[in-house]
Amino acid sequence: MYYPEELIEEIRAKNDIVGVISGYVKLQKKGGNHWGCCPFHNEKTPSFAVSEPKQMYHCFGCGVSGSVYTFMMQYENYTFPEAVRALAERAGVKLPEAEYSEEEKKRASRRARLLEVNKEAAKYFYYQLRASHGAVGMHYLEKRNLTPETIHKFGLGYAGKNGTELVEYLKGKGYTDDLIKEAGLANYSERHGMSSQFWNRVMFPIQDINHRVIGFGGRVMGDGEPKYLNSPETPIFDKRRNLYGLNFARTARSGNLIICEGYMDVISMHQAGFTQAVASLGTAFTQEQAVLLRRYTDSVLLAYDSDGAGVKAALRGIGILRDAGLGGKVINMQPYKDPDEFIKNLGREAFQERIDQAENSFFFEIRILADQYDMKDPEQKTRFHREIARKLCAFSEEMERENYLQAIAEKYYIESDSLRKLVVGYAAATGLDKPPERPRTTVQPKQPPEEKVKKAQKLLLTWLVDEPGLYERIKDYISPEDFTEELYRQVAAKLFAGLGTPGFQPASIVSLFDDPEEQRQAAELFQTTLPQMDTLQEREKAFHDILLSVKRSSYEYYTAKLGTDVSALNKVVEGKRALEKLAKTHISLQ
Ligand code: GTP
Ligand code: MN
Repeated sequence: MYYPEELIEEIRAKNDIVGVISGYVKLQKKGGNHWGCCPFHNEKTPSFAVSEPKQMYHCFGCGVSGSVYTFMMQYENYTFPEAVRALAERAGVKLPEAEYSEEEKKRASRRARLLEVNKEAAKYFYYQLRASHGAVGMHYLEKRNLTPETIHKFGLGYAGKNGTELVEYLKGKGYTDDLIKEAGLANYSERHGMSSQFWNRVMFPIQDINHRVIGFGGRVMGDGEPKYLNSPETPIFDKRRNLYGLNFARTARSGNLIICEGYMDVISMHQAGFTQAVASLGTAFTQEQAVLLRRYTDSVLLAYDSDGAGVKAALRGIGILRDAGLGGKVINMQPYKDPDEFIKNLGREAFQERIDQAENSFFFEIRILADQYDMKDPEQKTRFHREIARKLCAFSEEMERENYLQAIAEKYYIESDSLRKLVVGYAAATGLDKPPERPRTTVQPKQPPEEKVKKAQKLLLTWLVDEPGLYERIKDYISPEDFTEELYRQVAAKLFAGLGTPGFQPASIVSLFDDPEEQRQAAELFQTTLPQMDTLQEREKAFHDILLSVKRSSYEYYTAKLGTDVSALNKVVEGKRALEKLAKTHISLQ
């Protein structure tokens, strides 16, 4: 523990989970919970529940759950101490100077050192570009119409004539070969020793949403292969989860975000005032990036290259956006290749017009499809219509499907009734896409015995969290040692100790674990759904069964340990007595 437990609990209590999460996810109150679309996986219908009384969240779709701390860790990619600091600041709680454990110091400092060495490299490139021998880089950027302000804003740089200068510079600043290698800034070879792959290129530092340099892209000045060279993935550079330009675009407030393919495209758009532009990092657009975009907007415009590869990438991107529940539109770049060239030739007003005219992604898909068929050939035309019908089946909502059906029918001169018949035929054969159903928690598949034991322990803890008053009635029969799962035992110990204290919040237990995986498992405990029962008798019987089951498995557990563990005997004797007594005792839930 790096901060005193009471302080961690104070900070947690001052950060109401609904308030914190609403800052990131649109929530709506329904029943006892606040619901929203899960920020940790792709979904269109809300299955992410935030419970105010429990001060916890849980996603019924992907299973994530936790406290306000785990949320900040998962969402902002913070370490636990970082989450504590952020929430302390939010609540205006003053923190003492932190005391770190050795392990934490090492881990945090490794990441911090990687960020530092990247920042140092960015500085190095930045000054090279402005030095006399960097003039060749500066000329290149000027030739590409970039203003000094733009070059400065994006921190553009130049990597010198050979790959050893950067290494020398970084080593001079005290960074080790190991760290430079781990940061993806250089490699060792027999022939050249330590040498950077970045030389004789203009450099584009890649920043995370908090403006920290996490990697680089470097472009040759003129022709040459490869045109762009990117940093490899490192512990701080995850290409699937970052977007170039998002550090600026996230605050653009333009009502939409534009995603394009290249760094130069992003920079040109920003220079022309379209500061909502971002690009993927030399790889295809990913689901993770779509989820990231959804934090900031529900409307994404695709500004992909107008060539065949760009269209293919756009079609793929549309699917990913749709899965993330984002509306997508496609900006037409014709007759130019990409946003950079378009703006260079036609200017910002023309580009704004193209944004305003951006095509609905479904219409775009159908238009691209139409090009593949010869409409004069009845056979091909029929196949085109069938393909449209198939695509229309993907809309699960009838109204939406019907609206699209009519619009497309009109656009392509198809009888809407005939098209509808085709859709119905298709749906009958293959089924319409249905919204994913909530997993039902009451029906459980057959489980192995250990799972059943675990399940009972879990249910008992959940029940006590839901109805803390019950603890008084069963505390003579149960103790933390009855929870044979190590993690559950720890939770039970903390829970039982806490239940006697006024104002105790079970959520506080989660933050007592240092390890994120343990935090997750502990949080999950509190989210297990209790079996739904109608009558009090049924509930009392279920509770009694669970209690007996936990006690019995504990008894069996310690019986098996007799002979190897002296303390087991006590537990067995006590267990036998408790089991006999419990069998005759009625525990009222009223
Ligand atoms: P310019 O020619 O500078 O205008 O490039 P562009 O921005 O038009 O980029 P292009 O469409 O050629 O490529 C789009 C993106 O793909 C670039 O920003 C890079 O991230 C990536 N890319 C391009 N060429 C290469 C390459 O040779 N290797 C790798 N790894 N990535 C590349
Ligand atoms: Mn280009």
